[in-house]
Amino acid sequence: MSKIVIAIDGFSGCGKSSTAKAVAKALDYTYIDSGAMYRATTLHFLNKLTVLTNPRDIRNALESLNVSFQINPANQKQETYLNGLNVEKEIRSMRVSNYVSEVSKIKEVRQELVSQQQKLGKKKGVVMDGRDIGTVVFPEAELKVFMTADLNIRAVRRQKEILEKGDLVEIKKIIQNLDERDKIDSTRKESPLKKAEDAVEIDTSLLEFDDQVDRIVSLAKEKIG
Ligand code: DC
Repeated sequence: MSKIVIAIDGFSGCGKSSTAKAVAKALDYTYIDSGAMYRATTLHFLNKLTVLTNPRDIRNALESLNVSFQINPANQKQETYLNGLNVEKEIRSMRVSNYVSEVSKIKEVRQELVSQQQKLGKKKGVVMDGRDIGTVVFPEAELKVFMTADLNIRAVRRQKEILEKGDLVEIKKIIQNLDERDKIDSTRKESPLKKAEDAVEIDTSLLEFDDQVDRIVSLAKEKIG
């Protein structure tokens, strides 16, 4: 059976990651969270404790960046590691969320991460979620999905997700963060968030989680043949 690339793009907090993970599991594909790569890069930059503005400092910081996905022996889940350290929880913090769109705008950062993502998907059999997967990383992906959802619904879902990890964040702050990131992500010069012409749009505002997963899995099976 031929393997395909499934690209899932969309606004912040639409449930792309959990959906993509479930689709990958159903198809026995590899899941790659490209947002986690931008988040880990942001944490790496924040750890440098200086504002990185000039291209030379940015390139130096990128040279000492190693982001990988490994199984955490404690829970058997695939989690994000930055230079060998598990950063899964830290990269979801508001500290990183508030800065990640700024770091994602930087040309050198995008060039480096896009090239790493293309290597990870070279053998196909991957589901990758992000903002520019169907437009820039894998413009030839066999299946492209663009997910949307109402801003307030997204914020409530995100708040629940953060609460499950043990933190309580005010809904107002989450709405502000999602809205701001959508604006920066959609208007930046380097590969802005936009729907690929050949992407299937799925509005998840009123969809049950299992239904959105089933819909994408069926679309994938049609493509796989
Ligand atoms: O998917 P996420 O919300 O974890 O992504 C965090 C940020 O990373 C998002 O606001 C913009 C950036 N990002 C990006 O620019 N390109 C991607 N392919 C994925 C994420």
